[in-house]
Amino acid sequence: MKEQVVHDKSLDSTLSLMKDGYLFIKNRMDEFHCGIFETHLLGEKVICMSGEEASKLFYNEELFMRKGVAPKRVQKTLFGMHTVQSMDGTEHAKRKQLFMSQMTEANEKKLADLVMKEWENSISKWKGAESIVLFDEVKEILCKVACFWAGVPLNESDVKYRADDFYSMVDGFGGVGPRYWKGKRARSRTEDWIRSVVEDVRTGRLLVAEGTPLFVMAYHREFYGGLMNSQIAAVELINILRPIVAIATYITFEALALYENPECERRISVGDEKYIKAFVQEVRRFYPFTPFLGARAKKDFIWNDCVFKEGTLVLLDVYGTDHDHRIWNNPEEFKPERFMERKDQLFDFIPQGGGNPAKGHRCPGEGITIEIMKTSLDFLVNKIEFVVPEQDLKYSLSRIPTLPNSGFVIKNIRRKI
Ligand code: HEM
Repeated sequence: MKEQVVHDKSLDSTLSLMKDGYLFIKNRMDEFHCGIFETHLLGEKVICMSGEEASKLFYNEELFMRKGVAPKRVQKTLFGMHTVQSMDGTEHAKRKQLFMSQMTEANEKKLADLVMKEWENSISKWKGAESIVLFDEVKEILCKVACFWAGVPLNESDVKYRADDFYSMVDGFGGVGPRYWKGKRARSRTEDWIRSVVEDVRTGRLLVAEGTPLFVMAYHREFYGGLMNSQIAAVELINILRPIVAIATYITFEALALYENPECERRISVGDEKYIKAFVQEVRRFYPFTPFLGARAKKDFIWNDCVFKEGTLVLLDVYGTDHDHRIWNNPEEFKPERFMERKDQLFDFIPQGGGNPAKGHRCPGEGITIEIMKTSLDFLVNKIEFVVPEQDLKYSLSRIPTLPNSGFVIKNIRRKI
């Protein structure tokens, strides 16, 4: 049956988007019983769509492009300017290759091992502490590991504020006022720092191992043969460091998932590899992180009775697709078992985008994310014991990005014998 295109009646839905957050598209899909609708955001006509077929369409590069999609506020906090996210065609493929070259199994394993080492080191640091906020601790661990792995020197005394800056860039894009300004300042501080590191490598003041992300970005040559501008090299290197720090969000949700579903712990504690991976996938499906993605129609076309005019902004509902009852049985239930026999599909499970990462815009860092989450799960379940005191563990679906309000406090932390 063909879907009818519904027009959201309100003149402009920007305020509703801020209020509904992750549920903005899903609520309207449920209300209109449709998989696609038209609305207006910031005065512009926007088509919103959700589900596997919509996701397939969204990743068709003949029909959609990324140039001119990310609003300035997103570029000034989350992405940076002139980066891989806003490129198309061969320019995108060439830049993307820089990232894909770093995402080897060996690198994923190396990162996961470094994360476990830092987790282990933290146990003695936590001794005597009344309690710790897990999210804050993980941010620092990941910042330290990401910089070390990438070849970026980082003094111990700078770890906390650099970690805060990396996360503020992620946190700032969805906020207005102070939250946005904090993200913008964090970006300009971080860009200054990483640009000077790139320049030090180029002038020989800093020696860096061949093949590390810093080396690769510092010595990358553009199609005309010249070195990539040091500002762009810095911004693309931040495009690797920042999201590694952002995995702290998923690890905090992992801890929450364990707390809310204690029956899952047994299969993790006996080292059931298949179940551990399934648990990580269910955390990435169930808990909110990326709300939706944007692209513009490259030309006029019609899909499911909806007219897409060249240049129209289109939003793909990431959170809604990962909670779509047409794809997931009881999507509001946390059930790792659903991933046990599931074959990997390219367009129905899209917490980090869909399609082929080497060919399109899908996140190149999923392997890293999964390995770091698996290691952290092992640590939380098998390496330490702790108490979860009374606290506010609710997370708001209106706030983008979101997190349990308390950041997940734990106390009486002891190494398991
Ligand atoms: C792109 C999410 C971790 C690097 C993306 C996209 C999403 C995403 C939704 C956009 C896909 C699209 O536009 O179609 C996440 C989440 C992560 C994560 C939720 C976990 C916290 C990582 C890691 C790295 C990374 C660990 C690198 C080490 C990138 C880059 C892009 C990207 C460079 C741009 C790709 C392109 O435009 O071609 N990510 N990501 N991400 N991600 Fe991730």
